[in-house]
Formats: sequence, structure tokens, C-alpha cells
Amino acid sequence: MIPVRIAALPDHVGAQVEVRGWLTSARSSGKIAFLQLRDGSGFVQAVVSRADVGDDAFALARGLTQESAVLVRGEVRADARSPSGVELFVLGIEQLAGSAHYPITPKEHGVDFLMEHRHLHLRHRGPWAIMRVRDELERAIHDFFAERGFVRFDAPFFMPTAVEGTTNLFEIELFEEEKAYLSQSGQLYAEAGAFALGAVYTFGPTFRAEKSKTRRHLLEFWMVEPEVAFLEHDGNVALQVELVAYLVGRVLERQARALELLGRDPRRLEPSAEGGFPRLSYDEALALLADAGTPLEWGEDFGAPHETLLGERFDRPVVIERYPTAIKAFYMEPVPDDPSRVLCNDMLAPEGYGEIIGGSQRIHDLALLERRIAEHDLPRAAFDWYLDLRRYGSVPHSGFGLGIERTLAWITGVHHLREVIPFPRMLTRMYP
Ligand code: 4AD
Ligand code: MG
Repeated sequence: MIPVRIAALPDHVGAQVEVRGWLTSARSSGKIAFLQLRDGSGFVQAVVSRADVGDDAFALARGLTQESAVLVRGEVRADARSPSGVELFVLGIEQLAGSAHYPITPKEHGVDFLMEHRHLHLRHRGPWAIMRVRDELERAIHDFFAERGFVRFDAPFFMPTAVEGTTNLFEIELFEEEKAYLSQSGQLYAEAGAFALGAVYTFGPTFRAEKSKTRRHLLEFWMVEPEVAFLEHDGNVALQVELVAYLVGRVLERQARALELLGRDPRRLEPSAEGGFPRLSYDEALALLADAGTPLEWGEDFGAPHETLLGERFDRPVVIERYPTAIKAFYMEPVPDDPSRVLCNDMLAPEGYGEIIGGSQRIHDLALLERRIAEHDLPRAAFDWYLDLRRYGSVPHSGFGLGIERTLAWITGVHHLREVIPFPRMLTRMYP
């Protein structure tokens, strides 16, 4: 008998196979038992008939507890009612490992309980489907950039300086009172990479000491940050739209079953796979907010309610660009002839998921960047290497950061970011 993973069972209809996995649930009568099995690749129902397997094997099957590990030998049969199209008609069964008092039972558990048992909850259908989509999304990101000639470029996580302001910076003590910070962004290093390799992207964890407990903030999240030499603002926006449309298209194409398991209607995502995202200036966004009855003063940043409102206006992500200089990072290139605004943009997801991308064209002029570093009270010495990039063949360049968890929460239709990362790190959660 050949060992087969559950996901591959539809290719073996009529054959006798061996499946190794775990029992998720079971029900039985005196003559027949239905076992729900999973092996990580998928889920399948196994049917055990007392008349066919004999009394001992039948008793063993009936006595199996939730999450016992089993080896099942059986015949693959087509079954139109099953989501995978097959079921397993059992010929023999062995228990490989027991499982007593598994804590996550079929009854309803609260979020805190499930998060406390995250190491086990990951075995269940919802988290399983989300992690499959996460894997697809990450793979699609690497494919997208590889297809376009980008080089993956790994930035350090111990940093001598802040990148995105000091309010949410994690300070850590290294040796003998020497301080360092956990990376809030790999961007500054990606800029060095862009001048070395042309077009690069970093991909890795990012740390922000967010003291607010919102559904959109994690202390540790993953970000992809492309950076491209000679790319200017409009090209940067175009790259973002192309990337996001590609990612949504990939998930729709390859993870339809996972989306279905999550109850995510693919029709809500289809417009986003088409591209053609609307583009508004910051000023136009303010006008839209005023029309909607939530006015904001020029020069103020959007809060979550404003982002939600703007995002809900469209059936696909919206790009908001040219924000006031005062509310954005020190490294952003001013709009030509208008130093009160910068060549930057955010991308907001529809359906209230908020900002998934932040990006900009970077200042390439040495004197201006030196001035900005001083205005922002940043430690000049720590930025000397970054200023070097402006001393030797400095050219316009741009990039952006896409938050993996924000994007994934939107695509899977999951409310809270804690659901879309294997082990979330939040103000209120460090365990497991
Ligand atoms: O807008 P941000 O702060 O941009 C940067 O870090 C730039 N240096 C990127 C660049 O130009 N290379 O963050 C980028 C994205 C946000 O749009 C959001 O998707 C995500 O990172 N993000 C978070 N995700 C989860 N939890 C948090 N606390 C997040 N903070 C930002
Ligand atoms: Mg941002």
C-alpha cells in the first residue's frame, strides 16, 4: 500500500492507500463509524464498517480520542458530497499516539482561550486555511519580485537608529550599556542595496512598540520592502498596484478552497485582482471626508475611522498620495515647487482593513537630507553612512513597505491581525 497525503487522495480513486494523520472528530453507531481525519495537507472522512474490519479494529476506531495520531489503510472512493470529492473506506487502522483530554473541544471557546492554546489551535480548520493563504501570499511576493529582476536583500534587525520615528521604538540593551533598537523598517539598508544592486527587496520581521490595543497593530509583524534606483513617485505607485493585484490574483487562483473554508466570498476580491486602483491626493481625501461628515483639518493625519471611511468608498484598494511634509518621515522627497507636501503615498484596503502600504520617493540631495535630519533631531553620526549614499552618485529612488498581516487579514476577511500570524506578539500576549 502506498503512503498518500490527504490532499493527493483525489488522484488515487479506486486505489488502496495508507494515510497517517490525526483524528479531529468521530461519530459512530454499532455498525459503522465516521472518522474525520487531517494530516496537515487536508481533511478527509474515513468510514469504518464493523463487518469489514472486524470487532477489534472497530472497537479501536470507536475508542479513538480527539487528536490521537492514527495510521489508516483504506480504499479511496469518489464521494460527490465531500468537499474534496473523496472518502476513505477503511480496511485497517492503527493508533500511533494517544491524546487524552485535548483542551479545544467542539464547543465554542473564547478568543483568549484559543490564543492561550495557539500552539494547538493552529491544527484547526480556520487557522489551517489562513496559514495556507499566508504561505501563498509570501511565495507570491517572492515570485513577483524574482520575475521582475529584483534581488532579495536582508536588512539587519539590530539598529543603531530609528527609521520611522521614535514613538514606537523598542530599545534594547546589548553589552555594557551599549544601546540598540529593534528594526522598525529595513528601508535605509534597502536604499544602500538599491544603489548596489539596482532593485532589491527586504522581507522580514519588523518591531514596533505599539502601546495601543487595536485589531490592526502587532508588536512584531512582517513586511516586504522593495527599493529601486532611478524609480520616481509615479513608477513607485504603479509598482504597488501591480504587486497587490498580482497577490490577490494568486490567492484567488490557488487558494480558492482555503477562502471557501474561511467563508470569504471571492467576488469581494475580484476587482482588486484587476488593478486600476483609484488614486486621490491627500487634499482630495480631505474633501471626501468632509463630504462624508467627518472633516479633518489640513495637516492632520488620518486615524483609523478616516482610513476605514476612505477604504469603504471603493471596491478595491485606494492610493492616497502627497501628504503634508510635517506628518511624514524625514527621508521623503518634497513635491517639486511645493515643499509643504511630499512625494509619498499610502494604500488603503477596502472593507475597513486600513493601510496596507506606506511608500515614498526618497530625498537624494545631500544638503536637504542633512537639514531634515537636523530638523527631526536625529543623531547625525548614526546616519553618516546613510548620508554617504547621497555623496557618491546619488540619484532619485523610491520604495515602499507592504505589511503582510494587514494584507492577509483583508484577503482572508479576518477581523483581527492576531489571527493571521502563527504566534502573535501584542501588548496583551507573549505566550505561547
Ligand atoms: O507605513 P510604514 O510605517 O512604512 C515604513 O516602515 C516605510 N519605511 C516603508 C518603506 O517605504 N520601505 O509601514 C509599512 C506598513 C504599513 O502600511 C502597514 O501595512 C504595516 O507596515 N504596519 C503594521 N502592521 C502590523 N502591525 C503594526 N504595528 C504595523 N505598523 C505598520
Ligand atoms: Mg504608514
